[in-house]
Amino acid sequence: MAIKSLSDLLAEGVEGRGVLVRSDLNVPLDDSGNITDPGRIIASVPTLQALAEAGAKVVVTAHLGRPKGEPDPKVSLAPVAAALGERLGRHVQLAGDVVGTDALARAEGLTDGDVLLLENIRFDARETSKDDAERLALAKALAGLVEAADGTPGAFVSDGFGVVHRKQASVYDVATLLPHYAGTLVDTEVKVLEQLTSSTERPYAVVLGGSKVSDKLAVIENLATKADSIVIGGGMCFTFLAAQGVSVGSSLLQEEMIDTCKKLLETYGDVIHLPVDIVAAEKFAADAAAETVAADQIPDGKMGLDIGPESVKRFSALLSNAKTVFWNGPMGVFEFEAFSAGTKGVAEAIIGATGKGAFSVVGGGDSAAAVRLLGLPEDGFSHISTGGGASLEYLEGKTLPGIDVLEA
Ligand code: 3PG
Repeated sequence: MAIKSLSDLLAEGVEGRGVLVRSDLNVPLDDSGNITDPGRIIASVPTLQALAEAGAKVVVTAHLGRPKGEPDPKVSLAPVAAALGERLGRHVQLAGDVVGTDALARAEGLTDGDVLLLENIRFDARETSKDDAERLALAKALAGLVEAADGTPGAFVSDGFGVVHRKQASVYDVATLLPHYAGTLVDTEVKVLEQLTSSTERPYAVVLGGSKVSDKLAVIENLATKADSIVIGGGMCFTFLAAQGVSVGSSLLQEEMIDTCKKLLETYGDVIHLPVDIVAAEKFAADAAAETVAADQIPDGKMGLDIGPESVKRFSALLSNAKTVFWNGPMGVFEFEAFSAGTKGVAEAIIGATGKGAFSVVGGGDSAAAVRLLGLPEDGFSHISTGGGASLEYLEGKTLPGIDVLEA
């Protein structure tokens, strides 16, 4: 069955109807609790705005961080409610609990076009429970918040693309209870990923970074047979370099993955490209003295914190000819200026390719944050995904429970 979309719901009419929306508002916060990258909040606005403007009583549920199933003020959605209200240009109430007395009272008091954000859904341990009955009980309570006084059920709009790979109460179970629709963000993200996997124009270049090989293993295995080149930077490149027998100093290393990397290099050595030079330093710090060394000459006691200029040149040459590009994970510690040139250089090469007509997708919280933090033009890419794990799992060929359930 085809997935119903937000426009189907709007065509049915939502005036005065309770609509529960699962958004992904999981934004990064600094030590003082300030939002450092509002990308996911901005991406959630169109669906919420359309519903509010159409007169729905909108109840939004979302998570922030990974609290342990109980309230934790450090990851309250309070700063998110304020930021969302600013972006929407309308007041967003924040319930003091998830599905408790405050949430219930506020939901009952909603008038047409009001927006209520429930407190962090992961303050309730049932959200992430492995027990189906526990998750279903929470989903029932969520559904109850959008039920009309006469018992008419509300509707559920799944718009949190970044979390659709999680089989959780507010993502999966609630869709089994309510008429369900994909929000505009989920709709767009799925279409982009479909295009990336079904009508891929060659050459197809994949750029992977980030700290752990284990997080990217399945996607490397899946894309190595589909892509023309996979360029690897970030912390994970040191495990690949170690697999080539190179000493990596005190760089990040996943020893238990060295054998796996050896096998990947044996099988896909013509597709996988590693850095040839590295920017190294004695310590992980913004003010650490940076030194560019050959990738097989990282001195003992120094750690690689970025790919070097020669690597950027080689990677850029591959990328500038590409017709399709998928990028997930920064090339270095882009948050520190001295170690940001690798990520910036590769991003600029992707922007260049996009300008020449390539279809480019940035997947992953960190790479999306890098684009914004490094002041790169967001419209230089065909699409910046809000989903890190979700887009990776899609490209690994896995079924995403939060999408699957919308088809039923
Ligand atoms: C993300 O940040 O990738 C999503 O919000 C999902 O968060 P999670 O990995 O904590 O489930």
